[in-house]
Amino acid sequence: MRLSSASVLCLSLALSANASWLVVNNFCRKTLYLSNANQTSWTPPIQNVSTATSWTTKISGEGNQLGISLVEEYYNEDTPRFILGSSVKDGRLWWTVNSLKADPFDGEPFNVTAGSKECGFTKGYNLDVHNCPDGDFVLAFNPCVDNS
Ligand SMILES: *[C@@H]1O[C@H](CO)[C@@H](O)[C@H](O)[C@H]1NC(C)=O
Ligand SMILES: *[C@@H]1O[C@H](CO)[C@@H](O)[C@H](O)[C@H]1NC(C)=O
Ligand SMILES: *[C@@H]1O[C@H](CO)[C@@H](O)[C@H](O)[C@H]1NC(C)=O
Repeated sequence: MRLSSASVLCLSLALSANASWLVVNNFCRKTLYLSNANQTSWTPPIQNVSTATSWTTKISGEGNQLGISLVEEYYNEDTPRFILGSSVKDGRLWWTVNSLKADPFDGEPFNVTAGSKECGFTKGYNLDVHNCPDGDFVLAFNPCVDNS
């Protein structure tokens, strides 16, 4: 279900400085279903992210939880979910990756890049907790990529 390299996304984001941004680049051949939860809204409406499109939001506050599945019934108890947790506190950004129930991408590789060495990088559900100064960079989730 991976997209060929010929159809790689063209991202042209005009993102302002002094804030960190969360971006989902859908390299999968299927629509992604996304829940952008935070401490005041645990079950927000599900958003669709079509294949070969990107979704973005500004990261603010603590206890944010971006969840993604390949099935529309995101909130069904048995739905496998990718979870990217993030918080901004005292000028630092914290993030970690986890999965719930099972691997939502059936073994398809993914990566999360933060655009700086200090902010970290992962390509697994390893629960590593990353942190770095907040501001002016993009935390990008890239599912269904070739990590080789
Ligand atoms: C939490 O999510 C709700 C619903 O999406 C949004 O209106 C609100 O601004 C968010 N709060 C923060 C601190 O980002
Ligand atoms: C999301 O996709 C589903 C089908 O996969 C569709 O039924 C629903 O209307 C879509 N929702 C939005 C907001 O586009
Ligand atoms: C993560 O995936 C993106 C999209 O395919 C790719 O451009 C980038 O090189 C990957 N990062 C690493 C460190 O593999």
